[in-house]
Amino acid sequence: MCGIFGYIGFQKATPLLVNGLRKLEYRGYDSAGICLLEPNKLKTIKAKGRVGELARKVDNEILPATIGISHTRWATHGEPSERNAHPHLDCQEKIAVVHNGIIENYQALKKLLEKEGHCFLSDTDTEVVSHLIEKFCLNNNFEEAVLKTLALLEGAWGLAILKAGENKIIAAKKGSPLILGIGNNEMFLASDASAILEHTKKVVYFNDGEMVVIDQKGFLTKMANGDIVKKEIQELKWDVGQIEKAGFKHFMLKEIFEQPQAIANTLRGRITDNEVKLSIDIDPASIKRIIMVACGTSFYSGLIGKHLFEKICRLPVEVEYASEFRYRDPIINNNDLAIAISQSGETADTLAALNEAKRKGAKTLGIINVVGSTISREVDSGIYLHAGPEIGVASTKAFTCQITALVLLALYLQQEKNAQIDKNIIKELKLIPEKIQQVLNQAELVKALANFIKNSSNALFLGRGFSYPVALEGALKLKEISYIHAEGYPAAEMKHGPIALVDENMPVVFIATNDQTYEKILSNMQEIKARNGKILAIVNPGDIRASQLANWTIETPKTIDLLSPIVNVIPLQLLAYYVADAKGIDVDKPRNLAKSVTVE
Ligand code: F6R
Repeated sequence: MCGIFGYIGFQKATPLLVNGLRKLEYRGYDSAGICLLEPNKLKTIKAKGRVGELARKVDNEILPATIGISHTRWATHGEPSERNAHPHLDCQEKIAVVHNGIIENYQALKKLLEKEGHCFLSDTDTEVVSHLIEKFCLNNNFEEAVLKTLALLEGAWGLAILKAGENKIIAAKKGSPLILGIGNNEMFLASDASAILEHTKKVVYFNDGEMVVIDQKGFLTKMANGDIVKKEIQELKWDVGQIEKAGFKHFMLKEIFEQPQAIANTLRGRITDNEVKLSIDIDPASIKRIIMVACGTSFYSGLIGKHLFEKICRLPVEVEYASEFRYRDPIINNNDLAIAISQSGETADTLAALNEAKRKGAKTLGIINVVGSTISREVDSGIYLHAGPEIGVASTKAFTCQITALVLLALYLQQEKNAQIDKNIIKELKLIPEKIQQVLNQAELVKALANFIKNSSNALFLGRGFSYPVALEGALKLKEISYIHAEGYPAAEMKHGPIALVDENMPVVFIATNDQTYEKILSNMQEIKARNGKILAIVNPGDIRASQLANWTIETPKTIDLLSPIVNVIPLQLLAYYVADAKGIDVDKPRNLAKSVTVE
């Protein structure tokens, strides 16, 4: 949600800034802008729309500056426009600010500053930051002015700030991600590692409440009270190849096809034939209840996790939308384990829900993809997915790897509590990458079927048991990238209302593989067929009964019920992708969305 990139070094900053923004564009693409430090003044260039628009503008200028900051925006306060694009300047145009997050008290601050004579040019919350620094610079140096400003802000921020005449970038973090890349006589500041990786693997992660002063040769991190913080330099594990499209038309398609490998990576070193190895600093015997908090696709993997933990460990589980959880004074005990599931590890609602559970005494665990992300550093213990960077806005490989990690965790708790483990699950788990590959081999068939759906205005996705969250995820994928209105339902709920929607124009996708709900699903398919709905069924090879009821089928290999979501979601991801692509939509950057939702 908004991407920040900054450079200070010896190279021309502009191409590096534009390139950095391109890497971060998945975080928002409403507008983009850069600000360069020129001798004693700032040069700002902004454009509405994608980073490409900005690139076209900067191409026409000769810009020798070697220090600059930049931003790609996902609008929160103020419409997407050039006026609201970052960087935002003060009245004298001496201070420039780029910001990811929300300044919650900006209205009060703005009123105050306006009374003092400051003129605002945008509708954003961010602009108060540059004017506050301007105000405090009257009696303080740049650094002190930033510290004084930060003390007045409420909300969340990743900030990068330039001041004319000062050869440095000051950055600050609270609630939004910020990483510093350390090169040879050059420094790179970014919202996430994907923009830094091609320059250096040496990085520093910042904690909430920290401010860092960066120059060409080094950096100094301070707390709000001015105390210096010693930071550790860490090594990024990803390589550059992982953040390129590797011949695929879109990142989403590449990431769908990466799933056999991604799941193998989640499993690597964590299972033998009869043991699960996780380094978790939690006593399994002390856990009496699990509460999972997550958003979107990660929430749906939590719903599957509920089935898994109840079945494998016989533990009670609650799954909560992170955005709802924290506002209803939830009852939490010391024997609760709160699990935050998040691909990015930066989702503001998930982080806040986790902190609420922690504050009330729960032990915490993260199931996270992005190493070093905020949530991964807040939890007592964690399981990294090792799925590699997920760049496509629609989450795919993170979902299947999250389920894989949840299976591992459930087996681990079973093993630690009962000194035994269900070896059949382990055996089947090891076969999953190959089974996913078998589904991927049918991509051309799914592409052809997408033609039957692409002109529909609505679609229903139905499943039962383990397949119900898969139906929810299939519907979410379709609606978010193809803009077709889609709903996921437990199949048996149809007759309590939604079946009224079904007619010959309604495609209905059934997950009808041969699990313990198969007979029931067949009845639900009959109900739809009787009302002329068009059925696409996901079935196991050799299926006859569901296939006879369906207009179209896609086969997924048989596995045990509790692993079936990992395999059955693959054709639904492909379907959403091919429908959206056939409609000519920019699949990796669907309208109104951003990858990492760092606002509440
Ligand atoms: C959907 C999607 C979102 C995310 C949600 C949570 O395709 O990507 O629904 O799943 O925003 O994000 P993370 O997992 O990063 O917390």
